[in-house]
Amino acid sequence: NKGNYEHYMQKEIHEQPESLKTTMRGRLIRGGSCKAKTVLLGGLKDHLKTIRRSRRIVFIGCGTSYNAALAARPILEELSGVPVTMEIASDLLDRQGPIYREDTAVFVSQSGETADTLLALEYALENGALCVGITNTVGSAIARHTHCGIHINAGCEIGVASTKAYTSQIVVMAMLALAIGGDTISNQARREAVIDGLFDLPNNVREVLKLDQEMKDLAKLLVAEQSLLVFGRGYNYATALEGALKVKEVALMHSEGILAGEMKHGPLALVDENLPIVVIATRDACFSKQQSVIQQLHARKGRLIVMCSKGDANAVCLGGSCRIIEVPQVEDCLQPVVNIIPLQLLAYHLTVLRGFNVDQPRNLAKSVTTQ
Ligand code: F6R
Repeated sequence: NKGNYEHYMQKEIHEQPESLKTTMRGRLIRGGSCKAKTVLLGGLKDHLKTIRRSRRIVFIGCGTSYNAALAARPILEELSGVPVTMEIASDLLDRQGPIYREDTAVFVSQSGETADTLLALEYALENGALCVGITNTVGSAIARHTHCGIHINAGCEIGVASTKAYTSQIVVMAMLALAIGGDTISNQARREAVIDGLFDLPNNVREVLKLDQEMKDLAKLLVAEQSLLVFGRGYNYATALEGALKVKEVALMHSEGILAGEMKHGPLALVDENLPIVVIATRDACFSKQQSVIQQLHARKGRLIVMCSKGDANAVCLGGSCRIIEVPQVEDCLQPVVNIIPLQLLAYHLTVLRGFNVDQPRNLAKSVTTQ
């Protein structure tokens, strides 16, 4: 049921304040004065010690689910102190890459049925790793075959392009980071800030959804373009990859997410006055580096669309020469949840304007059960 919406993708984008609440329900505890703020993940409680002691955490997934894990990687590294590596499921299988008994392998999949991810799970089980599932589908193959796991509880996702599952996956992995990190004096302030940030996230997402009309206007401007680049780094490298994936898969427009730190190692050659470029430059530890990326793109007459924190338009844009997308600022590790939403809206409106099928892009299936 699409309710008042024209497409499932549109409905699922606008549902995110609610789906995020459902994802967090009963799992975040903000007790009274004497009770600390904490996270409860029932499905993991018997395995947390093993995960903390593991030599490495390996995230494994495909497409949007991989991107969600990439977004959560920095906070997991920070709070757990355990090295975190990333594997695209098919690539792990192609290489038969090393997975050890001392590893915790975390399988991220909305459907829980993706063939590559499932085969990578079988491979990790054979190699003796502790296998954790993060899925949106109770009773799915990945949920059944992992040793333990967390349901994201985002509600059924029908649009082929994953939207609300992406943001719920990031939130679940941020909660996973809090659960693994445990309470130590040294990280207490950070933990509490992340927990407070999670509580406030649905309201901030409601706020950023108000950019809908602005993104529709931007889509009108970009509708006839051949290509769109998205530059991000740090917490928002994943946002660049995921924003570009949305644009290419539904709007059928070439789009590439680029790690801003790699700009001078090739992508800069593409920059001219015609190619539109989205730069994600919200406030975090990488902000000044992104400011200098913007300056360099500007010096090459790049056509810039800059996403920045509210009130930062003048800090990122030189002489009003670029288009600005202002978003609410949240705790840095949760910013990817907010930042992806304007790009989901942009991809949606581009698709409608270009006259393509929003909910079932050509050649794609919701659940990829073949290799
Ligand atoms: C993109 C998209 C795909 C899936 C990928 C993995 O919008 O939907 O990239 O993310 O096929 O699917 P799951 O998460 O079901 O394993």
